[in-house]
Amino acid sequence: MSNIVSYEEREKNFDWSISEKELGYKDGDIINIGWYCSDRICEMGKADKLALIWEGLGGVEKKYTFDDIRINSNKFGAFLRGLGIKNEDRICLFMDKIPELYIGFLGVLKIGAIAQPLFSAFGDESLHVRLDNAETTAIITQRKHVGKVRKLLEKSPYLKYVIIVDHDGKKPLKERELTFDMESYEEPKDFEIFPTKAESASVLHYTSGTTGQPKGVKHVHYSLISQYLTTKWVLDLQEDDIYWCTADPGWVTGTSYGIIGCWSLGITQCVLDTGFSATSWYEFIQKRKVTMWYSAPTAIRSLMKAGDEVVKQYDLSSLRHLASVGEPLNSEAVIWSEKVYGIAFQDNYWQTETGSIMIANYPGMKVKPGSMGRPFPGITAAVVDSKTFEPLSEPGKIGLIAFRPGWPAMMRTYWENEETYKSKFKNDWYLPGDRASIDKEGYFWFVGRDDDVINTGGHLVSPFEVESALLEHEAVAESAVVAKPDEVNMEVVKAFVTLKAGYKPDDMLELSIMNFIRKKLSPLAMPQEIEYVDSLPKTRSGKIMRRLLHAKEWGEEIGDTSTLEDDE
Ligand code: WT7
Repeated sequence: MSNIVSYEEREKNFDWSISEKELGYKDGDIINIGWYCSDRICEMGKADKLALIWEGLGGVEKKYTFDDIRINSNKFGAFLRGLGIKNEDRICLFMDKIPELYIGFLGVLKIGAIAQPLFSAFGDESLHVRLDNAETTAIITQRKHVGKVRKLLEKSPYLKYVIIVDHDGKKPLKERELTFDMESYEEPKDFEIFPTKAESASVLHYTSGTTGQPKGVKHVHYSLISQYLTTKWVLDLQEDDIYWCTADPGWVTGTSYGIIGCWSLGITQCVLDTGFSATSWYEFIQKRKVTMWYSAPTAIRSLMKAGDEVVKQYDLSSLRHLASVGEPLNSEAVIWSEKVYGIAFQDNYWQTETGSIMIANYPGMKVKPGSMGRPFPGITAAVVDSKTFEPLSEPGKIGLIAFRPGWPAMMRTYWENEETYKSKFKNDWYLPGDRASIDKEGYFWFVGRDDDVINTGGHLVSPFEVESALLEHEAVAESAVVAKPDEVNMEVVKAFVTLKAGYKPDDMLELSIMNFIRKKLSPLAMPQEIEYVDSLPKTRSGKIMRRLLHAKEWGEEIGDTSTLEDDE
């Protein structure tokens, strides 16, 4: 049966209780995402339905039914409990997109602990600041990533366990290290799921801001109510779909829609745990007969670059619906996808903090290429003036995107940082930090971010984090980090650097600085260009004027620099 109903119809009399009813949830009930994504689906008679089709390097394949997901997540839960891990303890998942990541995530939630997924390409410094902030009790990881964890053990007294899911029994284990083999671990008898309630913490995702360390966005089990319904209506998932969400669960799309949304609906998903190439992606769609594909603009632009001819070499006729998130989806990409796949990618907008899709194009709506779409039913959204925070009623006027708080998946706070959390609200609006305009028909058009955060290929990078790391390089005296335009990734990291006495810019130094950041932070944060300067532009109070450098990179009018000086 199709989910397609017109936008207007859905907006009329919308209430989140629609989702609560479908999930059989009533106010005050126990609600546990781990249970909803596995046990409940089995109880609904879908125990033998495939939940996960996983493919790794060289075409290696693993398949799991919903019953396998239920049993294996119970195993994870029982194992963690056996170590003395309790509800609300933070458990970091630091793995590639292997089955243990998806299943372990549910296992953590089942014991009421808080899942802290971190992107496996993070270097030891990125990892450390996030574990430190959350005072994480245990980290679940793979052999190949243990080296990075070992580097921070000494300065992480709270971290009691390093759990390796793929240990080969050969290399000796070091202090605090344990092994857990999901397949061979004995199925626990009478495993009891922790009775989490709507407001019990579930997931802690870290996101980068302009200033300060990354912030831990705290979500709760009740977020399911938004994630379930947005998956159903925007991603339009239906019983027989084969769903492919290309996002990594180290980021919010990979958990909200790559685990929770699809599995709470009992939908089969497939995962490709290899790097990107146009041919391997098309081959995957053909082989797995993907019907619904949720991806990101950078991937789409890379596919565009690979050209139209390669598309013709594959049978992609299984595709039924395509959606995109994470960065601006230019109208060319929408039009191109319609031309080559016969279906257009439909853009949607949200962020780590909102927990679920906020503005979207979806089946049943007129799509306008280049627009992010309209607010999801039940979401009150506006564009407000940046000083008065009053809604701008005139169509086409650019202002700050604003949401009226109250949807189920909204973050509940920033971990140990209530002050910054509060600063995101003005006049009863939550401000996500983006600029946009609204047209006559209520469609939102993205303009840009309202801060200096760099969005590279759909991943946010904090200039502050990169600048701080650069200062630890022996040759660097001062630095300023800004976004630089890029054809595929939209933005990439560029660093302006002044050198300490005795150092000269050359290729070796450039490589050394780039590698330093790649290892410490991540490949995303690595500057793609380093420009050596004698001095950096500063305000009277000595603050580096990043915006001046940014404007130069983008060929923008710099205008009155005295106003730049006031900018915080
Ligand atoms: C930021 C959130 C939740 C998706 C993964 C990223 C930008 C997101 C769009 C879009 C233009 C977009 C915004 C937002 N963004 N979607 N459709 N068009 N920009 O989550 O890492 O928290 O990043 O990504 O700037 O605030 P995130």
